[in-house]
Amino acid sequence: MTARQLTLEDCQAVSDLEKQLFDGRFDSTALRALLVKPIFYGVVLPAPDMPNTIHAYCLAYITLMQADIIALGTDKTKQGQGFGRITLQHLIDLTEQQNVPEITLEVAADNIPARRLYDSCGFHVFGIRKDYYYRGENQSDALIMVRQFGSAFP
Ligand SMILES: CC(C)(COP(=O)(O)OP(=O)(O)OC[C@H]1O[C@@H](n2cnc3c(N)ncnc32)[C@H](O)[C@@H]1OP(=O)(O)O)[C@@H](O)C(=O)NCCC(=O)NCCS
Repeated sequence: MTARQLTLEDCQAVSDLEKQLFDGRFDSTALRALLVKPIFYGVVLPAPDMPNTIHAYCLAYITLMQADIIALGTDKTKQGQGFGRITLQHLIDLTEQQNVPEITLEVAADNIPARRLYDSCGFHVFGIRKDYYYRGENQSDALIMVRQFGSAFP
């Protein structure tokens, strides 16, 4: 399965995944607005025989100095099949081709699947925002993670 750059035609499908995974931080209007920004880059992983069906996606800002991942998600019914890794790897490969020195992101400290994925792709914890996330009575720290160019996978 091959990841590719997000296009206008993918905005509705990605917005549906955003709603499913994150209560819709980016609706299709917001995604269309992001698409016209030169520093925005989106990755999608379409189903092999159904190009309009998106299994996973990643949204990022990429500048000369840094890439910042603002969203990464896999359809709940497709998780654990390697799709998040393929999607993230597409972004890593792109930034390395462009000699971008580092990739940053933020993740909840209690988000074990995401943390394991990031750890295994060469990210390390760079900073902590204490009690950043409030979910009802539960609080969680936010971890700022960074991956330097060419970080070897453990
Ligand atoms: C995090 C997320 C994107 C991972 O996507 P995925 O397609 O399920 O992940 P993959 O199948 O590619 O697995 C990649 C790695 O993630 C880790 N992982 C995935 N699911 C896991 C789970 N349930 N428990 C522990 N680790 C897990 C493993 O390290 C795995 O590598 P391995 O299979 O070699 O052990 C997905 O769980 C998701 O969409 N979560 C909800 C949204 C979210 O939290 N996004 C991240 C915000 S920072």
